Amino acid sequence: MFPESRPIPNGRQLLTVRENRSERIIYPYRPPGHVNLDEIFERPVTLSTERLLLRPVREDDAPALFAIRSDPLVTEQYGQEPYRSIDESARWIRGALDGFSKRESMTWALTLGKDDTVIGECCLWNFGQGHRCAEIGYELRSSHWRQGLMTEALSAVLAYGFDEMGLHRIEATPLASNAASRGLLLQLGFRHEGTLRQRIPFRGRFEDQLYYGLMCSDRSRLPASGR
Ligand SMILES: CC(C)(COP(=O)(O)OP(=O)(O)OC[C@H]1O[C@@H](n2cnc3c(N)ncnc32)[C@H](O)[C@@H]1OP(=O)(O)O)[C@@H](O)C(=O)NCCC(=O)NCCS
Repeated sequence: MFPESRPIPNGRQLLTVRENRSERIIYPYRPPGHVNLDEIFERPVTLSTERLLLRPVREDDAPALFAIRSDPLVTEQYGQEPYRSIDESARWIRGALDGFSKRESMTWALTLGKDDTVIGECCLWNFGQGHRCAEIGYELRSSHWRQGLMTEALSAVLAYGFDEMGLHRIEATPLASNAASRGLLLQLGFRHEGTLRQRIPFRGRFEDQLYYGLMCSDRSRLPASGR
C-alpha cells in the first residue's frame, strides 16, 4: 500500500493511497495562506465522526431531505415554509450538486454510521476565495435534536474547512429567534459579531439575522474533536 502520485489540473501532484476499493487522499504541503478551490473541488469527500458519516449528498436523498424539510419545526427556524413535495427536495439537491460542479458549495448528507439513513445535511458555501472564508449551513431531523449530533458533524466540517481547505474564517447567519442554532454556534467557539436588524421577512414580520464568525486562530476554544 504505497503512496503514488498523479498530476492534478493545476499541475501539482496529489498523493493517494489505494486501500482496497477506496482511495485516501494525502494532500501535499500547502504553504500558509494557500487555498486552491480547484484542488479542493476535484472530488467530493466523505468525513466520519464517532456516530456519523458525512457523505456527499446524492439525488436519491430527495425523500430523506423531504422528511426533514416537510417539518415546520425545522424550516421555521430559518424562516421558510415547509416543503410540500419531494420535487422541491429533488430540485434543491440538483442545485447542491450543481453548486459543487461550479465550485460554489459542498453539501454533505448526515447519515448514522450503522446504516445509510439520512438524518440531516450540512454545507460549506458562499466561498470567498480571495478572502479565504466560507459560510456554514446545517439542519437535522427534529427526532434527532439535542443529542450532540450537529456539534459532532460541524466539528468535523470545521476541521476539514480549516485544515484541508485552508480557510481562515467560517461564518454563520441564523435568525435571532433560532435559540438552538445560536447555542450550537457558541458551543463550537463562534462569536456573535453583529445583528442585521429586520433583514428576513417571514410570516408577516421582519426577523433580525445574526452574524457569527469563527477564525482558524480561534480554534483553541473549539471542542477537541473540532480542532
Ligand atoms: C440547530 C440544530 C442543527 C442543532 O442540532 P442538534 O444536534 O440538536 O444540536 P446539539 O445537540 O449538537 O446541541 C449543541 C448545543 O446547541 C444548543 N442547543 C441545541 N438545541 C437547543 C435548543 N432547542 N434550545 C436551546 N439551545 C439548544 C445547546 O447549547 C446545545 O448544547 P447542550 O445540549 O450541551 O446544552 C437543530 O436544532 C436543527 O436542525 N434546527 C432546525 C434547522 C436550523 O435551525 N438550522 C440552522 C439554520 S441557521
